[in-house]
Amino acid sequence: MRTQHHPATAIRAGRLFAMLFCAGIAVAEVSAQVAAPTKAEAPYVPTPTSIVDRMLTLAGVGPGDYVIDLGSGDGRLVTTAVTKYRARGGTGFEIDGALVKLANDNAAKAGVADRVKFVERDLFVADVGEATVVTLYLMPGMLGRVEDKLAKELKPGTRVISHDYPLPSWTPVDIVKFETDEKVPISGTTRTQLLLYRVPAKR
Ligand SMILES: C[S@@+](CC[C@H](N)C(=O)[O-])C[C@H]1O[C@@H](n2cnc3c(N)ncnc32)[C@H](O)[C@@H]1O
Repeated sequence: MRTQHHPATAIRAGRLFAMLFCAGIAVAEVSAQVAAPTKAEAPYVPTPTSIVDRMLTLAGVGPGDYVIDLGSGDGRLVTTAVTKYRARGGTGFEIDGALVKLANDNAAKAGVADRVKFVERDLFVADVGEATVVTLYLMPGMLGRVEDKLAKELKPGTRVISHDYPLPSWTPVDIVKFETDEKVPISGTTRTQLLLYRVPAKR
């Protein structure tokens, strides 16, 4: 027996589908929010300013660059990249809202709020595609997931510079090791290393 579809029934079915579709999106959005960790996976420990300079110099930051700091603290890496190394812009992603406010205030004081922004966001769901340079000062236990994300999302040629801790399976193109008393209050040792990586061409 052939079933007759009344137009009103089709309209109701269409509306139901649209409602389910929208509900699906809403559920997916809620799931994404629930999946994001709500607390920092690394403590706030600012990179001493002399090491900020060494990181940005080693990465060769200059006028063509867009710098993203994952876990951006008070914003010093991105703001210095723009004020001192003339990067064209940058973004910091930081999970601590008070630090995000401080970083945006610091950028405004430095006169670069038009080119620099700090966003309260879990770094694992942050959009990093615009970066030409990514800076990191994170805990070793996070870096496996960070390198997976960066490998998927960064453009070939993008430089990644990590303070102290290596990306577990990437090979650095440069490593600089030095001693500085400024690290003693932070890590209990003068030893410091900076590891520079370059995202390879896609195969
Ligand atoms: C060691 S501090 C480095 C701060 C800054 N990058 C610097 O070098 O001065 C690490 C920062 O990462 C932030 N953080 C930790 N887990 C995070 C996450 N999942 N998403 C975003 N920020 C995170 C912490 O709140 C902290 O400010």
